[in-house]
Amino acid sequence: MESAVGIETVSLEHKKIILGVTGGIAAYKAAELCRLLTKADADVQVVMTAAAQQFVTPLTFQALSGKPVLTSLWEAASGDGMKHIHLSRDADLLLVAPASADFLAKLAHGRADDLLSTLCLARTCKLAVAPAMNREMWATAPTQRNLEQLRADGVNVLEPTAGEQACGETGLGRMLEAADILASLPGLLGAGPLAGKRVLITAGPTFEPIDPVRGLTNLSSGKMGYAVAQAAAEAGAEVCLVSGPTCLATPAGVRRIDVQSVADMRRAVLAELPSDVFIAVAAVADYRVDAAATQKIKKSAAGLTLQLVANPDILAEVADLLDAPFCVGFAAETEELAEHAEAKRRRKKLPLLVGNLAQDTLGQDTAELVLFDDQGQHRLPRADKLTQARHLIKHLVNLLN
Ligand code: C5P
Repeated sequence: MESAVGIETVSLEHKKIILGVTGGIAAYKAAELCRLLTKADADVQVVMTAAAQQFVTPLTFQALSGKPVLTSLWEAASGDGMKHIHLSRDADLLLVAPASADFLAKLAHGRADDLLSTLCLARTCKLAVAPAMNREMWATAPTQRNLEQLRADGVNVLEPTAGEQACGETGLGRMLEAADILASLPGLLGAGPLAGKRVLITAGPTFEPIDPVRGLTNLSSGKMGYAVAQAAAEAGAEVCLVSGPTCLATPAGVRRIDVQSVADMRRAVLAELPSDVFIAVAAVADYRVDAAATQKIKKSAAGLTLQLVANPDILAEVADLLDAPFCVGFAAETEELAEHAEAKRRRKKLPLLVGNLAQDTLGQDTAELVLFDDQGQHRLPRADKLTQARHLIKHLVNLLN
């Protein structure tokens, strides 16, 4: 039996959100975000910095949010003069989008010289920032230092994406699209269908040492596992991502543990149990070198034979525990997907297994997936990996319920 899997629309009913807009060309995307927030029934109060008003007028946001926009610390000081304090006390979330490099620097140093930065400093609610800037400004050491500080301070950084920039350059620093920012909010607000659930995920390749400078690995990019971690966090779960070596950014709100070998990954996974859900996306090496050399192996005309031994199957071990979490496996096959995937699901005792054709998926940004569960097969036609991950989490929520 095959069925389509849909995604619910985001509801932010009764959520009070302060949308902070700082100076950058991505301010035009904040107008779209404001519209989506109000459409999702959030109560939105827009606060703009002076620089933001050089890009978009307050009137635009007033029309979209249905409320006058706040722009000045001194204007906010009317009444009892404490609006800069009360505003964030009442809010569920302070969301700064776009957050310029300058604003991030200000936040990281606790400065408060305008209404928005004062609100951020005086807040008791959660703070999320969606950075937007030129790729060089993003990559530069001071910006990265500031971001590290902000993450350590508990600020949720909604990582920018790579692509064409308004300045004509191409690279990392584009603000997330408004719809993607919106999708991340229920999770940040603890309002998603996985709120209160612990989700443990493995992702990426593993690396088995041959000697101190060489090893056995595979072509997994980690993109699917990171997308699943993001989708689970969006759904409100407390997500721990045990990741093999990748160069991907950690999704907002996700706790990441870096590992290399299968033994490291297994140790990290077992230490993170108990968990409500375990999703094994990692491309785990089936074999490791029996005795990795402690010194670099010298070249020899006689060639080299490596003795490989089988690695433990982390997913099968976790699924076999008495108090096993709800376990989800991934199967990348090169042929006869349905037969191999279903056999694997039964062998590993999994309620849900995600199958894909390896040659169509590895390293790519899109994937075509088939979900196998007790009800049968559910096909997810080709789409970007984040969209697929959201479908998968939606399906998992239905099975959990
Ligand atoms: O048996 P196979 O490697 O094809 O199974 C794939 C699934 O099992 C994936 O979910 C993968 O993350 C997991 N796995 C594991 N430990 C292994 C091998 C695979 O957790 N040693």
